[in-house]
Amino acid sequence: MKTRVFSGMQPTGNLHIGNYLGALKNWVRIQHDYECIFCIVDLHAVTLYQEPGELRAKIAEIAALYLAAGIDPQVCSIMVQSAVPAHAELAWMLTCVTPVGWLERMTQYKTKAAKQESVSDGLLQYPVLMAADILLYQAGIVPVGEDQAQHLELTRDVAQRFNSLYGDTFVVPGTSLPAVGARIMGLDDPTQKMSKSATGQNHAVALLDPPDKIRKTIMRATTDSSPGVDPETAGPGVLNLLAIYQAFSGDGDDEMKRHFAGMRYGELKKQVAEMVVTHLEPFQQRYRQIISDPGYLAAVLRDGAARVAPIANDTVRLVKQRMGLYT
Ligand code: AMP
Ligand code: TRP
Repeated sequence: MKTRVFSGMQPTGNLHIGNYLGALKNWVRIQHDYECIFCIVDLHAVTLYQEPGELRAKIAEIAALYLAAGIDPQVCSIMVQSAVPAHAELAWMLTCVTPVGWLERMTQYKTKAAKQESVSDGLLQYPVLMAADILLYQAGIVPVGEDQAQHLELTRDVAQRFNSLYGDTFVVPGTSLPAVGARIMGLDDPTQKMSKSATGQNHAVALLDPPDKIRKTIMRATTDSSPGVDPETAGPGVLNLLAIYQAFSGDGDDEMKRHFAGMRYGELKKQVAEMVVTHLEPFQQRYRQIISDPGYLAAVLRDGAARVAPIANDTVRLVKQRMGLYT
C-alpha cells in the first residue's frame, strides 16, 4: 500500500508565493508517488472570526488554486475539512490526552493570542485539530512549510501519548520540508516570514496578483547596501530573493552562484520578477477558468469528501473501541 500524505491550508487571506513554494508546489511534485489528501481547513479558519460569506467564497478559491497549481483530482482527494465530521470528533478525543501546557507553548498560538483581546478556546486547541486531521488518515508524510514544524512535533507527541495509553492506534507521521522555499520571508522586511495576514503594501506577492503588481512589489524589495550580489555575505533580503528565484527555477546551488555572483540588485530583482511572472501567468489563467465553473468545483469537493470519509470513520471507530466509548 502507498504511504498516505495529508496536508492543508486555511481558507483565509490571499495565498502568496510562500504558501506555493513552501507547500503547494511540493504537493504537486509528490502527488503520483503517494496516496494524497489535500484539505481546505475551514474549521481552523474559524479559530479567528471570519465573515461567513467571505469564508464560503475563500473555500472555493482555495480549491481552485489547488487545481490551478496542478493537483489532479483523479489522483488525489481534495476535500473540505468540515465536510467530514470525523475531524471534529477525533479532535475531541485527542484534546483529552493533550496537556494544556503543550498547547500554551506553541509559538503560533502565542503570536496570534497576543493580537486578540479575547482568546477563543479554539485558538488554543488549533494544533489538536491539526493532529486529528493527520492521524485520522494514518498519514505517514505531511508536506508543509517550516512554520508548521512545531505543530507536527506536537502531532507526533499526541500520537505517541495516545498509543502508549490505549495501545498502538496511530501512525506517527514525519514532516516533509522543501529543500528551498520552506520559509519565504516578507519582501518589505526579510526578518519576518511572508504572511497572509500582514498588511504592508509590499510585503507579499499573492498568487493572484496581476503581473504589474508582482513586478512592482519585487522591484521594491528591501535589500542591503552592497553594490551587488555576493552569495557568501548576502543579507537576508538578497538571500530571500535568491531563494524565490531558485525555488521557481529549480536551478542547483552552483548554477545559482555562477549566474548571480556580482550582479547588481536592480538586475537581480528584474530577473526574480520575470521568473515569478512567467510561472504565475499560466497558473492564473487556469485559475480563472476553474473558478468560473462552480459546478465542477463542487463535484471535485464532493468526490474528495466521499472518498476519504470511510477512512476517517474507520479510524474514529477504532479510537472509540480503544477508549471504551460507545460504538
Ligand atoms: P497557511 O497559510 O497558514 O494555511 O499555510 C499553508 C501552508 O503554507 C503551510 O504548509 C505553511 O507552512 C506554508 N507557508 C506559509 N507561509 C509560508 C512562508 N512564508 N514560507 C514558506 N511556507 C509557508
Ligand atoms: N495549520 C496549518 C497551517 O496553517 C494548516 C493545517 C491544518 C494543516 N491541518 C493540517 C497542515 C494538517 C498539514 C496537515 O498552515
